[in-house]
Amino acid sequence: MATLSNGYALVTGASQGLGRAIAYELALKGFNLILVALPDRAFDELKSECKNWPVDVRFFETDLSQQNNIYQLAKTVNENFELTVLVNNAGVGGTCPFADVSPEKILQIIQINITALSLMCRLLLPNLLQRRSYILNVSSMAAFSPMGYKTVYPASKAFVHHFTRGLYQELKNTSVFVSVVNPGPMATNPEITERIHKMGWRGRLGLMSPEQVARISVRQLFKKDTLIMLGWSNGLNWALMKCIPIWIRLPLLTKAIQRELKV
Ligand SMILES: NC(=O)c1ccc[n+]([C@@H]2O[C@H](COP(=O)([O-])OP(=O)(O)OC[C@H]3O[C@@H](n4cnc5c(N)ncnc54)[C@H](OP(=O)(O)O)[C@@H]3O)[C@@H](O)[C@H]2O)c1
Repeated sequence: MATLSNGYALVTGASQGLGRAIAYELALKGFNLILVALPDRAFDELKSECKNWPVDVRFFETDLSQQNNIYQLAKTVNENFELTVLVNNAGVGGTCPFADVSPEKILQIIQINITALSLMCRLLLPNLLQRRSYILNVSSMAAFSPMGYKTVYPASKAFVHHFTRGLYQELKNTSVFVSVVNPGPMATNPEITERIHKMGWRGRLGLMSPEQVARISVRQLFKKDTLIMLGWSNGLNWALMKCIPIWIRLPLLTKAIQRELKV
């Protein structure tokens, strides 16, 4: 069983974007890392960069949309590593008229955003309960309102939000602290960057870099902030979503999202 100083932090979706930035922040704090992403070439660059990090870094290339892989990963982690941090960051979405979305895409969003996240929490909990530890689940500002042309994604992130809040309450008298962060737009992969660009000024409202979001999230996680807000603009967006009635908010947001579909 690997038991180095701070223990191991597992980050899903760690090859790029927010997950990669969170991994870096955790390495700076002295956590050894278990980094998970799809089996493709995206990890190559990070693998060479990690050689300079003063912590032990392990890579698991696996598809979390397949339940067998989740069980296998959890088994390997539970048998070999003392886990102190679990970051469920891997998530997928997209913008498309619902009639045109492939059934495979719908299943992929549900499997990664909902099934994998819940199972990772459940299967790794016995390991986390052995010591003081932390779970950070990555939701989205999209969790705070339904919207057309995204449909499944905001619903899945509402699940992440509510699931995490409930889990926090249930585990608050144990050694495991549970937190959720709800980022607004971040220009991470090229597809998301293009979508943000197409939305014009609305897309840039509350825009933050993944590095900024990672820095605040990791800092607040260890301050035991269970509902992590990212700066004043996200706070303002959240307050607006709460105040504006759904019959006004839903068509307005849907119209804004529709702009992403224009070529
Ligand atoms: N970007 C935004 O504007 C934004 C806003 C709010 C919330 N979020 C949330 O923040 C999180 C990170 O977003 P991001 O923009 O940084 O994402 P990203 O750049 O697209 O990176 C996604 C990560 O997840 C991994 N991944 C995707 N499918 C996977 C699968 N089936 N199995 C294992 N790993 C998989 C990818 O691995 P590969 O590199 O190997 O493909 C990659 O490491 C997500 O939960 C997202 O919903 C993002």
